Amino acid sequence: MVRGSKNAVTKHMVAAMLGSGPSKIHNAPEVGDVDITAAMLESVGFEVRRERDEITVGGAGAIQPSVPQAFTGLNRIPILMLGPLLHRTGEAFVPLVGGDAIGRRPVDFHVAALKALGAEVSVGADGITARASRLRGTRIDLPYPSVGATEAVLLTAVLADGKTVLRNAATEPEVVELALFLQRMGANIEFSPDRRIVIEGVRALRGASTRLAGDRIEAFSYLVAGLITRGEVRVHGCPQDRLVTAITTLAKMGARFEITDEWMTATATDGLRPAAVHTDTHPGFMTDWHQPLLVLFTQADGMSVLHETVFENRLVYVPALQQMGGEIEVFAACLGGPACRFHDTDAVHSAVVRGGSKLRGADVTLPDVRAGFSGVLAAAVADQPSVLRGIAHIERGYHRPFEQFTSLGLSLRRN
Ligand code: EPU
Repeated sequence: MVRGSKNAVTKHMVAAMLGSGPSKIHNAPEVGDVDITAAMLESVGFEVRRERDEITVGGAGAIQPSVPQAFTGLNRIPILMLGPLLHRTGEAFVPLVGGDAIGRRPVDFHVAALKALGAEVSVGADGITARASRLRGTRIDLPYPSVGATEAVLLTAVLADGKTVLRNAATEPEVVELALFLQRMGANIEFSPDRRIVIEGVRALRGASTRLAGDRIEAFSYLVAGLITRGEVRVHGCPQDRLVTAITTLAKMGARFEITDEWMTATATDGLRPAAVHTDTHPGFMTDWHQPLLVLFTQADGMSVLHETVFENRLVYVPALQQMGGEIEVFAACLGGPACRFHDTDAVHSAVVRGGSKLRGADVTLPDVRAGFSGVLAAAVADQPSVLRGIAHIERGYHRPFEQFTSLGLSLRRN
């Protein structure tokens, strides 16, 4: 059973900062990123209550404009709090954002968008300071359809004066989910063709309640866990429409699917064919699906190619898989798809994988959340036990992962 996604729940919590009354988020996952975000919201004066799968954000008391420095580098959420804090207090300070080290991950689009909306913004060594007595609607063209920058614009423009037209916006399901929540809070948001979002600022937003849709990254990861062990995992709770490209990719490799309105399974008892896949913005094959896929490639019958086009440094976990016996070569060239924006750089962002490797147990360090899950998948097919370090990454992004792995039959011990 997968719950709502890490990449939606935390943004909904930030959106709740804009409401005049409390908001409720149902089907919330128990992930480390929620703990971090709840603590940040509390640090500026909001009340966050968590009960079972429900998060309530409220509190009409005085709001502080500064997120404490102690939250530096813990996740990507502080920058999204700038707009809501500006609306609430006219000023804001947030520490530098962190998250996974999978590329430079600059925040230039966020800063440019906030400036265009009328804020004075300065980026310092410790964090970002912003001031604005009023925010005004404007026209913003994103150089790349960034998920975070699109969300930052939504979270700021909904209460700005007048109309904002955002071009080249991200349309990932988690972005749409956030926009729907804001609409429920009273925001005026319109999705137009060609990646354009039009937001008419309103004077106030109310609290709202929503149930998050299932996490498409977790769902895919567990489907692959079944395929890679020649077993079958029945994944409940993620709608099929969030997985269209993933299902088609695995089906082309030979996986057979059974899909109902409640659950889906994938099996490949006769083995899998190799594939050439490039990651992309929605509705392409998402960047966070590529890590389980790469491990699956090591078990397919032939040579596969992966081209990562969203983050320039996402293949940092490949040495861990190589240590476990994965036959993987990485390249700075664009392989397995059209040339991407990293073509003229020396970013190592393509991989060629020889299938049919016998993976072996090893002592490896997992560098980020998605690579972390892939390390577990590789350890599950390896013929000796493995020691995996850095498992806190997994807990930051997956709902009760060790319970789930154990229920799937994986033998693991946590030290
Ligand atoms: N970018 C810029 N400047 C900016 C913002 C983005 O150059 O100001 C670039 C990035 O460096 C990257 C590209 O634009 O090359 C796309 O980044 P985007 O902003 O879309 O990513 P994000 O918002 O930082 C979210 C998810 C990621 C997910 C990506 C893409 C969260 C907290 N993170 O990141 O999830 O991979 O969108 O879908 O929502 C994960 O969950 O493990 C994860 C990394």
